[in-house]
Amino acid sequence: MRTSAALAEAIGGWDPLLDDRQVVEAIRTSTRELSMLDRSTIEHQWRTAELAGGIGARMGLNARQLRLLATAAALHDVGKLLIPAHLLHRPGPLTAEEYGLIRDHSAYGEEWLASAGVTEPIPSIVRAHHERWDGKGYPDGLSGEQIPIEARALCIADALDAMASQRPYHRGRTMDEVHSILMSESGRAFDPAAVDAVFSFWT
Ligand SMILES: [Fe+2]
Repeated sequence: MRTSAALAEAIGGWDPLLDDRQVVEAIRTSTRELSMLDRSTIEHQWRTAELAGGIGARMGLNARQLRLLATAAALHDVGKLLIPAHLLHRPGPLTAEEYGLIRDHSAYGEEWLASAGVTEPIPSIVRAHHERWDGKGYPDGLSGEQIPIEARALCIADALDAMASQRPYHRGRTMDEVHSILMSESGRAFDPAAVDAVFSFWT
């Protein structure tokens, strides 16, 4: 299993995911289990890890933070393993209760990783990947710099990949659409520094 050249470059040529036995095991186990449940999540996690590494580097994260970020990104949706499978593939609208269960995947991810022996702060970063800069995210309603910086980079990388990809419930967005969403969500959903880091790719 290899991280991409872009990610390896962002972290100074050091592949973070092959360094920690518990992380390697967690990636193996989750990949095996997710491949039976939702293959697209595995690919999404790897693309998100690549994006997050580049964004995090441009936000000024140090080598240790980039290692944590890349690792958390490669595992960030593992909590989906604890959600009823039929909800993950449902194209239509969800009830409030079903939506709540899907939202719980970030907290479930923390639980799954902790029980797999993955050390902190990786489980906490995964827990916080749907927090919003304005405090309206979940599961804890953290805001601004209360949110770990790695989770702020992961959040925008996750959203970028989701916006660019075709999903059962929406088509992939154009670059112009992505640009205007990021502009309007800077300081709302996303850390403005993370949005600036993404724009620095494009200018
Ligand atoms: Fe997520």
